[in-house]
Amino acid sequence: MPSTLFDSPFSCFVTGTDTEIGKTLIASTIIHLQTNKGYRVAGMKPVAAGTLFREHPPEQRSQWFNEDVESLAGASNLVVAQELMCPYLFKLPVAPHIAARLENVQINPSTILKAFEQIKQLSQAVVVEGVGGFRVPLTQSFDTADLAVKLKLPVILVVAMRLGCINHALLTAEAIRSRGLELVGWVANSAEEPMNKLEENIEAIDARIKAPRLAHVPFLIDVSVQTALRYFDI
Ligand SMILES: Nc1ncnc2c1ncn2[C@@H]1O[C@H](COP(=O)(O)OP(=O)(O)OP(=O)(O)O)[C@@H](O)[C@H]1O
Ligand SMILES: [Mg+2]
Repeated sequence: MPSTLFDSPFSCFVTGTDTEIGKTLIASTIIHLQTNKGYRVAGMKPVAAGTLFREHPPEQRSQWFNEDVESLAGASNLVVAQELMCPYLFKLPVAPHIAARLENVQINPSTILKAFEQIKQLSQAVVVEGVGGFRVPLTQSFDTADLAVKLKLPVILVVAMRLGCINHALLTAEAIRSRGLELVGWVANSAEEPMNKLEENIEAIDARIKAPRLAHVPFLIDVSVQTALRYFDI
């Protein structure tokens, strides 16, 4: 059945069963699904760890950038300052609380909240990508699940379709609901070569997760938002 989730502008927190499993691809696709309808939508990656350096010809500025921030900004139809879109951008691709410590930075949740509120003022919907899995520490006492609670956003869970995914999906769904958050949908993403008994695994999650599946995105040769879009029945 087609999902009615995006019939009006829709802000959400996109989490995943792990790191490197397709959150950015799916979050960017969710932004695009909405901008296609004419809504003003912005992406946000509150904390990112891992920057690349881009050399420009001498007359232009060289710069550090993060691939997630670029992808979300590219899907969005609003120009939002990077400091708002990603208040905490760290150089090393390591766990964020470690990256922060290495750079002598204390992640302050209220800075993230303020940035989120400012982006909300400019837009009709904000799609926030989490970091890694659902419970990634940001400080000694605050993690990404706490952030989703503070942002008061419904959650979309991206599940990496590989051996072990049923357990990861159900544990994450439980952690989301136990915080009073709404799990509004899940996306099966085959970010690796197709797994054995893929359909049976999808069915097993569908039967237990108590949230609609928005799409199964197969392993893509051409990884792009335009290709991923085709698998959403919206
Ligand atoms: N369905 C797919 N088919 C093929 N490759 C995919 C698919 N989904 C994601 N990928 C690839 O897997 C890698 C990780 O994807 P992505 O960056 O979206 O993950 P992520 O969960 O956002 O990672 P991070 O935890 O670093 O934010 C990327 O190289 C992406 O192109
Ligand atoms: Mg990402």
